[in-house]
Amino acid sequence: MTHILHRHTGHDYPFAISGAGVTIRDAAGKEYIDASGGAAVSCLGHSHQDVLAAMHAQLDRLAYAHTSFFTTQVAEELADDLVAHAPRGIGRVFFLSGGSEAIEAALKLARQYFVERGELQRRYFIARRQSYHGITLGALAVGERLRQREAFGPLLIETHHVSPVYEYRGRRINETPPAYGERLAQELEAKINELGGDQVIAFVAETVVGATLGAVPAVPGYFARVRDICDRYGVLLILDEVMCGMGRTGSLHACEQEGVSPDLMALAKGLGGGYAPIGALLMQTKIFNAIADGSGVFQHSHTYTGHSLACASALAVQRVMRRDKLLANVSAQGARLARRLNERFGNHPFVGDVRGRGLLQALELVADRARKRPFDAKLKLHARVKREAMARGLMIYPTGGTVDGERGDHVLLAPPFIIDAPLVDTIVERLGEAIDAATTETN
Ligand SMILES: Cc1ncc(COP(=O)(O)O)c(C=O)c1O
Repeated sequence: MTHILHRHTGHDYPFAISGAGVTIRDAAGKEYIDASGGAAVSCLGHSHQDVLAAMHAQLDRLAYAHTSFFTTQVAEELADDLVAHAPRGIGRVFFLSGGSEAIEAALKLARQYFVERGELQRRYFIARRQSYHGITLGALAVGERLRQREAFGPLLIETHHVSPVYEYRGRRINETPPAYGERLAQELEAKINELGGDQVIAFVAETVVGATLGAVPAVPGYFARVRDICDRYGVLLILDEVMCGMGRTGSLHACEQEGVSPDLMALAKGLGGGYAPIGALLMQTKIFNAIADGSGVFQHSHTYTGHSLACASALAVQRVMRRDKLLANVSAQGARLARRLNERFGNHPFVGDVRGRGLLQALELVADRARKRPFDAKLKLHARVKREAMARGLMIYPTGGTVDGERGDHVLLAPPFIIDAPLVDTIVERLGEAIDAATTETN
């Protein structure tokens, strides 16, 4: 009998006992290849000795000091490190304990920025449908995963949503990718105009959409146009790189590949690689200056902000990434993974799309390829695929509701950056077996 309120009350979860490299072992001795990094978290795999050593050393010095009394060397070094490698104009960092917290802080800092400047009328956030920004109320409001919002609708702040970039289903026949991006950018501009250009605080978007759509990058030119539009109306651009950032797509920040620099950027997952709960909010110097030259206080803090052990884990993860040149491995193994997925599933009767960037790849499952018709949502195909994969010792991250929050299934892969070619091949092989078994059950 458990006393934990688990994610699914009726499900028996195996006990995870130990982890090493890309595998987790359960209490029965069964090993699972962690092909999803949990939820795109474990970028260095499990039990990385250098990260553990840095954390042990930090623990021996100091685990925690409250930020209303002290700063710490390790937090300062991590902030220096993040700013040194950040997109253009980013000058300061605020530490959190995860992705939702980073988004909440982004929303509040964005609003406070305008309050400090006397633009009190700015009150709206615009975000995109079929995005996930976290589970706390503000993050839930800007995100748009219908199932998770349903019960809490009356509690959510007013937000407005525009179309996501979702080429597989959204781009019209005969429309080029740049023309599609332009159409979506115009939709954003029209929404800003509808609300009033001086009423909007920020546009919030995942640079590469992760869990909700399944590894969907933008089309070329889209984010550059979004950046221009935001600038024209003085609207802030908040990029959510909680999942797609910190190396996951082959560059440290996914926005580097889009050629844009956000006003605020939320990081978590790969920042600490799962060794301790940590998130970060990166901000343009102009935003910091508005606070510093105004009230001098960001009206937002948590007890565990800048936790020393968490900062030590993230600093170690970032140093190992650079020392071992893991971004190059993300690009190389990401390309291999994409190739192997296309070989195995390119003509699969129940796989409509293979997509992604770097080591964030996904398959969209469909009942009918020609019509892109999703499976009946009642089948919960994503859950079946996960079950079949776990039975074969493979951790993957399937989700339902891909198309519209209700219909559609995809499988997300986000293996650790230390993965090698034979493991990529094993993942694709086991995934193929799991999908075949799950789709056979449904027919
Ligand atoms: C893009 C994105 N933003 C925010 C979050 C929320 O992060 P957390 O679960 O750490 O609160 C997630 C989590 O999956 C995410 O994928």
